[in-house]
Amino acid sequence: MSTSQNPFWYKLTSVPDTDPSSCVLDAFRIAIAERVASALPPLTVEKAYSGVDYGKKGVDFTVALPRFRLPGKVDELAKKVIDAFQPDDFVASVVHDKAFLHFQLNTTSLIREVVNQIYTTTYEPGQGLDANAEPTNPRYGTNSSGGGKTLVIEYSSPNIAKSFHVGHLRSTIIGAFLANLYKACGWKVLSVNYLGDWGTQFGMIATGFEKYGSQEALERDPIKHLYDVYVQISREAEADPNVKVEAAKWFKRMEDGDESALANWRVWRELSIKKYTEEYERLNVQFDVYTGESEVGKEWQDKALQRLEEMNLVSDANGAKLVDLEKWKLGKAVLRKADGTSIYLTRDIGGAIERYEKWNFDKMIYVISSQQDLHVAQFFKMLKLMEFPWADRLEHVNYGLVQGMSTRKGTAVFLADIIREASTVMHEQMKRNEEKYNAIQDPETTSREVGISGVKIQDMAAKRINNYNFNWDRMLSFEGDTGPYLQYAHVRLCSMERRNPEVFPLPAPSSIDFNVLADSQHARDIAILLGSYPDVVKTALKTHEPSGVVTFAFRLAHAISSAWETLVVKGEQDRGKAQARFWLYRSARDTLGAAMRLLSIRPMEHM
Ligand code: ARG
Repeated sequence: MSTSQNPFWYKLTSVPDTDPSSCVLDAFRIAIAERVASALPPLTVEKAYSGVDYGKKGVDFTVALPRFRLPGKVDELAKKVIDAFQPDDFVASVVHDKAFLHFQLNTTSLIREVVNQIYTTTYEPGQGLDANAEPTNPRYGTNSSGGGKTLVIEYSSPNIAKSFHVGHLRSTIIGAFLANLYKACGWKVLSVNYLGDWGTQFGMIATGFEKYGSQEALERDPIKHLYDVYVQISREAEADPNVKVEAAKWFKRMEDGDESALANWRVWRELSIKKYTEEYERLNVQFDVYTGESEVGKEWQDKALQRLEEMNLVSDANGAKLVDLEKWKLGKAVLRKADGTSIYLTRDIGGAIERYEKWNFDKMIYVISSQQDLHVAQFFKMLKLMEFPWADRLEHVNYGLVQGMSTRKGTAVFLADIIREASTVMHEQMKRNEEKYNAIQDPETTSREVGISGVKIQDMAAKRINNYNFNWDRMLSFEGDTGPYLQYAHVRLCSMERRNPEVFPLPAPSSIDFNVLADSQHARDIAILLGSYPDVVKTALKTHEPSGVVTFAFRLAHAISSAWETLVVKGEQDRGKAQARFWLYRSARDTLGAAMRLLSIRPMEHM
């Protein structure tokens, strides 16, 4: 039993890169490692620790003995560990199975320590909880491995006056997750939206605006209006080549800093950002900085070109500058057009340099579709060739294609359409159950929130690089592993609490006897899952994959749903038992909520 002064694990060996105060399963793993090491000299605890893995179904932890490359037969090594084994507060049993040792933890300690850790890393330390107590400082699952280093992360980055396609949506969703994830791991995170707000298309729009523009329509819906103008003028350009010539001239004036050519553009940009900010807010996505291609200075683009020329990598093609990266199997790329105007690629080079000068990042992540793999590889390569010492701090997080994102009115072109469609499809889905629907307090907001969760979960459920088909019905169903199902699981945990006011005031977990849960397989399953959450976060940081967090959330939701019938709170006569069970559900609610928030989903309390 832990005393009030010392934590449960205070006598354990300290192992590098472990921290029982934020991940209590580390303590249990160290306890296992100590046993293995002391039975098998000269094996160290640290080395043994690296061999303790999660077990397969029904096994808490497994050690694969051949990993340690110790002299002697595996069976003999196993026997040594088994012979020396004594159950204690950490480990209850060990079984030998071929090259493996399977360990089971002490159930009471496991449940007590996990619940206690979630409590102490979610609420201000105190005497327990009153009814309606909300998390005061939720940080369960977080760690400080980032040590305050700076991450710049660029995501979403739509183009003004063009459609917001599903590639931008994926970048937004995955990027928001990664930004949350790095924050949760102790990084200082700066999120950047790099708008496509520059380029010949703005010459087109300026030309088109004189004919088709309307100030009123612009103010009502700038994103849509600019898009409409662009579509109209592009159609005209197909018939009349002069339009493009005019547009190019206009853009050249913009590049040269001609204020009369820039004035309108500035307004368009401002209005678009304002509108986007509202829509991102609905998605629960925020940016620290809105920048864009327009803000990249010419200076570094020129220097880059010059430097690559000195390296004999640049050739002239009818006045345009071409860089040859064939040597690295990265093809040839235009760096500057014949009329001297800049292009996408060069702006990315200049942009990266400026960001480093400004923010001195330890890492910079670009969340961009795999369709742009070559583009990204090209500008990363050029920055390396220019010998910037920080060039290897850049990372491209890519993702696959999505097919079939359309609304019933036609193809979705704007973010607002996607959000609206998610809400209406969800709304209809909820209306199908009349009784439940009538109980919903605010169907508009509820259907929007649940609908957005559906879109996000579908997007993050599989490995990033996989392609998938956008399917409204599937993603918005309450059945199967969907966003609505997760929201429902969270709401159910919250409503269970509302229906059991008699458990309050709830003493702190350290004053609860968790022995009363020790015979429940369900309680055990839930506890070990909850305990694994800090590991799930660490793994996601290594892989940059949201899918591990999504899988965790569903495993937890399933484990809770199979526990409802046996781990009952309502009507349980034994108050201690009711409170112990309640704590388990509270811990589950807080951890599920944490996982959902990490995925940028706002967990709902009512439905
Ligand atoms: N605006 C670009 C597009 O829509 C994406 C920008 C990606 N970021 C970058 N640094 N190139 O294709």
